[in-house]
Amino acid sequence: MEYPNTNLSDEIFYKLKNLIYDISGIYFNEQKKYLLEARLSRRLSILDLPNFEDYYNYLKYSPKKKSEIKELLNSVTTNETSFFRDSPQLDVFMDVLKQIVIAPSVSPNKKIRIWSAGCSTGEEPYTIAMMIKENFPFSNAKFDIIGSDISEHVLDSAKRGIYNDYTLRNASKGIIAKYFNKADNDSFALKDEIKNMVGFYNVNLVDAKEVKNLDIFDIVLCRNVIIYFDDESKKRAISNIYESLKIGGHLFLGHSESLHFISTSFKLVGFGKTPLYRKE
Ligand SMILES: C[S@@+](CC[C@H](N)C(=O)[O-])C[C@H]1O[C@@H](n2cnc3c(N)ncnc32)[C@H](O)[C@@H]1O
Repeated sequence: MEYPNTNLSDEIFYKLKNLIYDISGIYFNEQKKYLLEARLSRRLSILDLPNFEDYYNYLKYSPKKKSEIKELLNSVTTNETSFFRDSPQLDVFMDVLKQIVIAPSVSPNKKIRIWSAGCSTGEEPYTIAMMIKENFPFSNAKFDIIGSDISEHVLDSAKRGIYNDYTLRNASKGIIAKYFNKADNDSFALKDEIKNMVGFYNVNLVDAKEVKNLDIFDIVLCRNVIIYFDDESKKRAISNIYESLKIGGHLFLGHSESLHFISTSFKLVGFGKTPLYRKE
């Protein structure tokens, strides 16, 4: 076949962006048309389709539309992450976790549940697992760490647990030596003792039913995820997270995110660079 026409007309851009929005809450405004065009061009080549109009029709009407929707989500999500991202925030996270661990109300057999919502390739929940190993070496406390994402592609990568040195740039040499094995091609394989501490699930944050299936958490980290949503989808995602938190449970957002105009249900208990919210 000849090269596909990868120019995205305004009409098809609107149809595609509405479809993506309805499924995921991710909002592409007009300024991001070029981004959508760039991210989806590869799908035209892979599917041997001549233009974006045919791609849109494929997503709507093909018998393979279900699996292509997954590919669409893999392509349009922004998955940037790294180990020990935003360490001042992680220090606050550890303070909150220590308070929970020493609280007399926590019975020894009860698991403390932590959810990394929008975990991408797994660096965030694995960072938490390593921090727990480091901070509670002799504690009897039990932890349940969940990572979830809408993109199956990143979750597959998270489950493999193979990383390059760039994503480990904020990890100390000691941590790398302790929890990773050197693998081929200068990559690092996460050891099973950390891998086995995290469970991964394909969950769409704007889907109340899918979120509910994860049950109730003590702490949720949803960092650098709702930044891609409009206010309406932020409200949906945050309300789903609210329902998943215990009373007194904490929510961490990314340092450039806030619940201003999104929710009044949480109490803001962290300021400045660490927006920290508590369910009252
Ligand atoms: C930039 S990454 C953030 C990763 C990590 N939380 C961090 O801060 O390093 C954003 C992730 O959110 C996921 N995401 C976007 N929309 C989502 C949705 N509706 N439900 C679940 N995950 C979503 C993307 O697939 C992506 O992996």
